[in-house]
Amino acid sequence: MKFYLDTANLASIRKYNQMGLVDGVTTNPSLVAKEQGVFEEIIASICKEVNGPVSAEVVSTDHDGMVSEAKHLAKIAPNVVVKIPMIPEGLRATRTVSSMGIPVNVTLVFSANQGLLAAKAGASYISPFIGRLDDIGQRGMEVIEDLVVIKRNYGLKAEILVASIRGPQHVLEAAKLGAGIATMPPDVMEKMMMHPLTDAGLKKFLDDWNRAKKEKPSLTV
Ligand code: G3P
Repeated sequence: MKFYLDTANLASIRKYNQMGLVDGVTTNPSLVAKEQGVFEEIIASICKEVNGPVSAEVVSTDHDGMVSEAKHLAKIAPNVVVKIPMIPEGLRATRTVSSMGIPVNVTLVFSANQGLLAAKAGASYISPFIGRLDDIGQRGMEVIEDLVVIKRNYGLKAEILVASIRGPQHVLEAAKLGAGIATMPPDVMEKMMMHPLTDAGLKKFLDDWNRAKKEKPSLTV
């Protein structure tokens, strides 16, 4: 499974990229709005840091506006993926932009049918928002279950990019289902690597070692 970070914060991206954990990055207008600086420069820095796809989202809601933004975003770096919302004009724009050879990530997907339409329109990535479905009392992971089956049934090329992940359990469930990519906030990646027994076990190893060194001066490494 590929792991993407769902953030526009370069310091976080760099931290986890240095551990070899970052296959790509997704941003959205809300995430970029949390940062300082010029949008294009923020995206350019992320694209330079990460050796993988970086999603940058359009803010127009009409076909021509989205296509024009997509062309502009694609010029920032070769690894830019243009994020387009799952609205009728967005599907039209997805078709136009993808036929220009610019990869598209269709975002704000909340049903398997929407995902199916996005794939048909030419999306390279489909982003179902599972956490936001959970928030309104639906089972977000059901959309992933359905899309994994549909992708397999028809050999769809579009990657299922599980988004709006709220905790490590979401990543685990998506991995068990066979979704290709999970994009997560940095704190979820941090939580995935933590276990209290790891910390307690390491503390005991080091305590035992330091005690033994005091008691037996001949013990060295
Ligand atoms: O980037 C899209 C998605 O992951 C947003 O997640 O937590 O705002 O629902 P969230």
